[in-house]
Amino acid sequence: MVYNSGKGEYKGFILKEERFDPEFPEKSESIMCLGNGYMGIRAANEEYVHFASRGTFVAGTFDYLEDDCSTELPNSADVTNMLFEADGEAVSPDGDISDYEKTLNCKNGLLRRTFLWKGKNGKRLKLEFLRCVSLKDLHLAVSKVNVTALDSCTVKVTSGIDGDVKGSGHFEPMGINAVSDVMSITAKTKESGILFSTQTCHRFEIDSIKVEPDISVYSENELQIMTKCAFDLKEGQTLTVTKISDIFTSRDRERDGCDMARLVADSREHMKKVRNMTFEKILEESAAEWERRVWSCRDVKVDSENETDCLALRFAVYHLTVMAPVHDNRMNIGAKGLSGPGYRGHTFWDTEIFMLPYFVFTCPAEARSLLEYRYNSIEAARQIAKERGYEGAMYPWESAWITDGEVTPSWALTGLMEHHITADIAMGVYLYYVATGDEEFMESFGYEILFDTAKFWASRLEYNEKKDLYEILHVIGPDEYKEDIDNNAYTNYLARYNILLAIKYYEKLREEKPETAKRLCALLGLDTVYKSWLGKVDKIYLPRENADGLVPEDDTYLTLTDITREDCTLSISEMAGEVHAIARKVGFSSLMVSKQADVMLLMYLFEDLFTPEIKKKNFYFYEKRCIHDSSLSLSTYSALAADLGEKDTAYRLFERASTIDMGPDMWTSNEGIHAASLGGIWQCAVFGFAGVRRYGEELRIEPHLPDKWRGITFDISWKSQTLRVEVTKKVLTVKNMTGTDEVYILNGGRRLAVGSGLTVEL
Ligand code: BGC
Repeated sequence: MVYNSGKGEYKGFILKEERFDPEFPEKSESIMCLGNGYMGIRAANEEYVHFASRGTFVAGTFDYLEDDCSTELPNSADVTNMLFEADGEAVSPDGDISDYEKTLNCKNGLLRRTFLWKGKNGKRLKLEFLRCVSLKDLHLAVSKVNVTALDSCTVKVTSGIDGDVKGSGHFEPMGINAVSDVMSITAKTKESGILFSTQTCHRFEIDSIKVEPDISVYSENELQIMTKCAFDLKEGQTLTVTKISDIFTSRDRERDGCDMARLVADSREHMKKVRNMTFEKILEESAAEWERRVWSCRDVKVDSENETDCLALRFAVYHLTVMAPVHDNRMNIGAKGLSGPGYRGHTFWDTEIFMLPYFVFTCPAEARSLLEYRYNSIEAARQIAKERGYEGAMYPWESAWITDGEVTPSWALTGLMEHHITADIAMGVYLYYVATGDEEFMESFGYEILFDTAKFWASRLEYNEKKDLYEILHVIGPDEYKEDIDNNAYTNYLARYNILLAIKYYEKLREEKPETAKRLCALLGLDTVYKSWLGKVDKIYLPRENADGLVPEDDTYLTLTDITREDCTLSISEMAGEVHAIARKVGFSSLMVSKQADVMLLMYLFEDLFTPEIKKKNFYFYEKRCIHDSSLSLSTYSALAADLGEKDTAYRLFERASTIDMGPDMWTSNEGIHAASLGGIWQCAVFGFAGVRRYGEELRIEPHLPDKWRGITFDISWKSQTLRVEVTKKVLTVKNMTGTDEVYILNGGRRLAVGSGLTVEL
């Protein structure tokens, strides 16, 4: 249902739905979601449609819901609703409509929907709905609707603020108000006590001339305030409704914990400034911000035989912008961004392993903010470690507000056992540091995270006297089908690396910055811990390949029942339904089937651990047994396949990854887009096909373009320099656009200076 289109400057930026399917409105609501990191507004139709799922999510405004035993990001009051009636008959896209089109322009963040409608009474209207959430003014959202009467009729408009949405149970109403043409509602989240102020202001025009209709204001409950008015339109006349809305909360950094009087005063002040703006002006300012912040420096131009490849990259960059609350380092990215209720808005390892690399390489300041969130959560992580009998900082598997600690719902074992996240965060810190050289960040936050996470691992290791080795028992690795397993390869290697990093940087600090070393030593008791790191690090059990060349995912994986069929033409992921049916009977834990990349992720992140032959062998072994039941999986497999020179396989997997949200399956995105998968798509292109990688502490660029691609161009940031990378089938060109420092890259086993521009024959 969703196609690539766009012309001129918008070519390769537009997502289009050409048919409205009343049974599946949620697909486009999620994938065409608007936002700016502060708020996300699902692309629900203005009219109320059955099955639709309106959503307005404001980053960081978590609230605990007892029924659910978990904290979640509440769905706040909706400002997108607008109902039209022609001579008493409600206009709806599931009526008699033609010329339907709904588009999201990823370049400027414009959502547009048009159709012709014919009522049972024969009256026809032409409708155009436009919507934008400003990237420039984070509190501002605007809609504009043009209704052209193709037959003269009376058009009635009902529009307002509707807090009576799915999830409204989080809110206690605090008041509704209408002062001149501005309507507002205020509410408070029940447990976290966050105050919300939502306002909206309507403007009406007929054929571009402002009109002031008689308005009736009403509300059916305390969470709703609506306005109704009617217009007699002659044939050919166009009614335009502009609806300017804003949202403020007492969680906003500038008004953190403020009272209602201050919140309302701030909101009113803001509305005064924006209420007379035109839709076009707001869009223009927002589009300029998109250009400045995003497209001028983060575009990934793919020249491919398949046009949707380029769109897939832009779609990823678009969503990675609208979902990321990088304006506030007390917030992080949810697994579904701000595009839906899925995963309750919680943050997972998805950030550090799948999305952070994109931010590190395209906008280090934003990456830093995401890592500062982890620093701001460190007290809660220390508390978790303490409660579970460990030392140091043990990060929660799912996290929400910085002081919340573990927020995984209690029915999920992952909260108790998926411990690799603590090392994933350390890896994120390390990647950021190597790519930026940001010493100030390390002094203020980074070293402390590295040391305290390594302290956790030292206490988490269990000594096996018989083997004279340290093991990590009772965990869940990335493959969540295997619960309570021992020695998950990914977890063990990452834990060891976390400790190695801590040793390296503690020694370095002692030598080069004794004051910092002293401060952190006093704070974290590093002298004792350092000794324990040294004593344990070389004795951590690290699974190696067995006689068949296979690296076991954990202690038991290779002994489980194998259900792949060598003679079968279908891969196991293509047989997903069948595999699930078997698993329902015997349990996934007893089958040699993985939910997602696990050993593969290890091989992708640490490319020198195993020889290329071993990696290839394991790739095909695990790929056959992986069901890609998590959206995090395909991109890892694709990027690793590209590294291994398996170009066709890599491309096939990339194509599959890019259809997770953008593809024709109408169910996949109901609960929101797949944030990590979008970071993964960027990694497939930049790390996989263009071959950009942190290699040790160097930047390596070793392209492996798929046959269908003629070239790719993008900018990356490395040690404060912006590098423009262009890859074609024949040459790699790297230009230093900043040019204030020399940058070296590794390619073909050589270390090359980029200088004012470097060209390498491929
Ligand atoms: C995956 C996890 C992931 C989570 C949130 C789960 O299905 O298995 O790896 O962190 O979804 O995206």
